[in-house]
Amino acid sequence: MSKVQTLRLDRLLANLGYGSRREIHMLLNRSCFRLDGEILRKVDQHIALTPDLTERLQYFREPLDPLPGLVLMMNKPLGATCSHNEAGALVYGLLPERWQKREPKISSVGRLDKDTSGLLLLTDDGDFLHQVISPRAQIAKRYRATLDRPLRGDEAAIFASGTLQLENEKTPCLPASLEVLSEREAVLTITEGRYHQVRRMFAAVGNHVLGLHRMSIGGLVLPDDLAPGAYRLLSAEERAAVVA
Ligand code: URA
Repeated sequence: MSKVQTLRLDRLLANLGYGSRREIHMLLNRSCFRLDGEILRKVDQHIALTPDLTERLQYFREPLDPLPGLVLMMNKPLGATCSHNEAGALVYGLLPERWQKREPKISSVGRLDKDTSGLLLLTDDGDFLHQVISPRAQIAKRYRATLDRPLRGDEAAIFASGTLQLENEKTPCLPASLEVLSEREAVLTITEGRYHQVRRMFAAVGNHVLGLHRMSIGGLVLPDDLAPGAYRLLSAEERAAVVA
């Protein structure tokens, strides 16, 4: 059985973004945190990071924020950027303010362009992040693309060939599958994550992507009831489905 990790209370709360160590001391003095209903006062108390801790440890009677090691799925809205420090709307700005002060930081698992919507994963778990974005993992990502021009008919064969060469790339794209939905709409499944890959693949066959939406990553499909801009924690099963 693996040993449960413990952390000093002030360190745990500071890492979750509740404040600096000094501010945490003040919050504890004001009786803001309770464990199993008992007021917590000792900054150096060690807390076992068990999965039920977020229910047992409360801040003003509200469950504690998710413990480190979280994975979120977001329905990324159009216009938000996957960056910590660019000007304008950022995907991190859609999270609660406190979550933006967490250590380790929450980062997106790969990126979607500002003008792409759909399934975006966010995590503070570096191992999970690398497992998903590693080129060796070749996890399938499905995108629905709306195109400027009617499809010619040869795109699926070209994308599947494994010979499509994008500008400024040393190696051709791995085989990708194209499912045509209509004259100007198609679902493209790729197993790499090159810069602007879907837009560049369509550009390489003389088309232009007007709209792009990520539908799934691995076996995880964006649920219909997750509105643009909304996010939620992944269950253990959903997390496993990403890399299955
Ligand atoms: N390919 C793109 O061109 N843009 C994205 O955001 C994702 C994949």
